[in-house]
Amino acid sequence: MTQKEMVLTRGGERKAYVKQMFNDIAYRYDFLNHLLSGGIDVYWRKKSVSKLDVQPGDRVLDLACGTADFAIETAQRKQCQVVGTDIAHQMLVFAQEKIKKKKLKQSVALLNGDGEHLPFVNASFQGVTIAFGIRNMGSIEDALCEMNRILSKEGQAIILEFSLPVNPVLRQIYLLYFKHVLPRIGSLFSKDDQAYSYLPASVESFPTISEFERTMQQAGFRNIKHWKLLNGVAVIYRGSK
Ligand SMILES: C[S@@+](CC[C@H](N)C(=O)[O-])C[C@H]1O[C@@H](n2cnc3c(N)ncnc32)[C@H](O)[C@@H]1O
Repeated sequence: MTQKEMVLTRGGERKAYVKQMFNDIAYRYDFLNHLLSGGIDVYWRKKSVSKLDVQPGDRVLDLACGTADFAIETAQRKQCQVVGTDIAHQMLVFAQEKIKKKKLKQSVALLNGDGEHLPFVNASFQGVTIAFGIRNMGSIEDALCEMNRILSKEGQAIILEFSLPVNPVLRQIYLLYFKHVLPRIGSLFSKDDQAYSYLPASVESFPTISEFERTMQQAGFRNIKHWKLLNGVAVIYRGSK
């Protein structure tokens, strides 16, 4: 299957592909994240966590937690009890190491599983977060419904996801970097030809801001707001149950 076909595919086939891809690149994931974004991903996660309105001791689920940067930030900044869940076991291996090093085993727990079928009862978390993960789900709609289901009344969701710059000139320059430079650097360091071509392709096929907000609304979220980062390269979405 070509890259383009895979990006357009949804459901189980995409899920299996994504899981394998993240298991394969897990050992290089953090390094490449910081390199390819010039380190700005760290600031984006901090800013996203600052938008989450939770109290110390609240329970927060970080979906598609990967190597747990977002979960760690939430546990440290908001003093919450965080559960991080991810479909790719290898990502969690690196997450666990970080949590141990930072002595956060009491406040961050990890679980290997599918974000579209969460093993939690209704209304069991005050907050749910997902950073650069919703785009990778087999079904964006199903994942959003699960996020809403596990939230308590008035609970909040924070979603950080890539988008494309609003300014047409910036968009063209960005797309040049994103489609031609980034995949080459990614493949050089991760020894994976596909993963870093999948990234721009999946961002281009992701819904626009207004389409995505409509999908959030259909999944049961209210008071939806968004903040564009770097002219729209990434967007923070927030919605309440
Ligand atoms: C781009 S990484 C983001 C990781 C992390 N949130 C961060 O900010 O760096 C996307 C993550 O989504 C996970 N993922 C993809 N589909 C998933 C699913 N259906 N359920 C749970 N995790 C999933 C992948 O395994 C991967 O770790």
